[in-house]
Amino acid sequence: MNLAVVGMQWGDEGKGKIVDILSEEFDCVTRYQGGHNAGHTVSFGNRRHVLHLIPSGIFQPKVTCVVGCGVVLDPLALIEESQAMEQVMSIHTEGRLFVSNRCHLILPYHRVLEAAIEKQLGERRIGTTSRGIGPAYEDKMGRRGLRVCDLMSPETLREKIAGLVAEKNRTLEALKYPQTIEPDPICDSYAGYGEKIKKYVCDTSALLNKLIREGKRILFEGAQGTLLDVDHGTFPYVTSSNAAAGGVSAGVGISPKYVHRVLGICKAYTTRVGGGPFPTESAEAGEQLRNRGNEYGSTTGRPRRCGWFDGPAGRYAAMINALDSLTVTKVDVLDAFAEIPFCIDYKYRGSILTEFPADVAILSAVEPVYKTMRGWQAATAGIREWSKLPGAAQDYLKFLSDYLEVPLSMVSTSPSRDETIRL
Ligand code: IMP
Repeated sequence: MNLAVVGMQWGDEGKGKIVDILSEEFDCVTRYQGGHNAGHTVSFGNRRHVLHLIPSGIFQPKVTCVVGCGVVLDPLALIEESQAMEQVMSIHTEGRLFVSNRCHLILPYHRVLEAAIEKQLGERRIGTTSRGIGPAYEDKMGRRGLRVCDLMSPETLREKIAGLVAEKNRTLEALKYPQTIEPDPICDSYAGYGEKIKKYVCDTSALLNKLIREGKRILFEGAQGTLLDVDHGTFPYVTSSNAAAGGVSAGVGISPKYVHRVLGICKAYTTRVGGGPFPTESAEAGEQLRNRGNEYGSTTGRPRRCGWFDGPAGRYAAMINALDSLTVTKVDVLDAFAEIPFCIDYKYRGSILTEFPADVAILSAVEPVYKTMRGWQAATAGIREWSKLPGAAQDYLKFLSDYLEVPLSMVSTSPSRDETIRL
């Protein structure tokens, strides 16, 4: 049975920890979209590790880790992350980590272009992670991007980069951005990166299909979350890839028939980084949630916007992904509250909306309708058994699962690997 693990909100749901735990039961963990904009935190043995590109299965020694073709790859980020893995963690990545030869590359000019576009958007900026993700996917869809396989042919790489740099400089000039790109340093460094990452590069689609034929179990690790999906999220305040389960098949090069189950992960409340509508954002409780939940971006360190659980958005994510089961994380962050508002509906111009709005202007104007849930005001951090949770915490989680119509499979009560309730 293969499993996709997806975020149900605007990312940062705690997927890293859950994938790390579950990967013990799998032979392979593969990323299917995004890039080093992701920050997957895994904590064990009093240490905290943040992964950006390498799949969170890397800490389980028998697991093969794959970066699928749907990922946009900054080769330097991969080199640095794999070196840190070897030096700090003594984890050897060669022979365990495989990168698709079809991944599109992030080049330094993608970051410059992103800065120029965000600057021009002003108040309407997306608030990206500044990793060059959007412009790299633009080049992919525009059919001009460079791929990992191009790095493997250094003799033609220089010519391809020079052509693209000339085009990017014309765009930067049109945007009146005071920076031009020099092609030669990029050509030199990227040829070197190709040499360094060559040991990881292969046709990962062929590899995954072989594993499937051999009856091996694969976990597909989502980055970001459903509400950041370029098609299904709160467009244009989204990332540039398909973070929802629908992205798996194209993003790794296997048939959708082989994605057998989908697990959705959500926080017991809601957070978002960057711009865009957030109906349940709370001015009063936001700071307390941020402090208690240490809600600062693991990639950029930015403070996250915080608010209550958004039921309509959660239901929408459950539908888009057809979730088989649900994991709720960071329940302990709610320990301090006497009452916990839970958004059960959106009201817009006096009527309850029956669908999650496509237009961000509508989503920005909806009025959340809250049901007030009883808080438990007792410590849940570190609890590992359902029966040890306070009654009000059980009620909250049961309500959440019933509301979403998805059975609860796990509850996380701390960042640590062991502090998890399995149902
Ligand atoms: P980009 O992915 O860097 O283009 O950023 C687009 C939007 O997605 C911004 O609002 C980012 O804050 C958000 N985003 C991207 N990656 C993550 C993530 O891993 N967690 C949470 N938000 C993210």
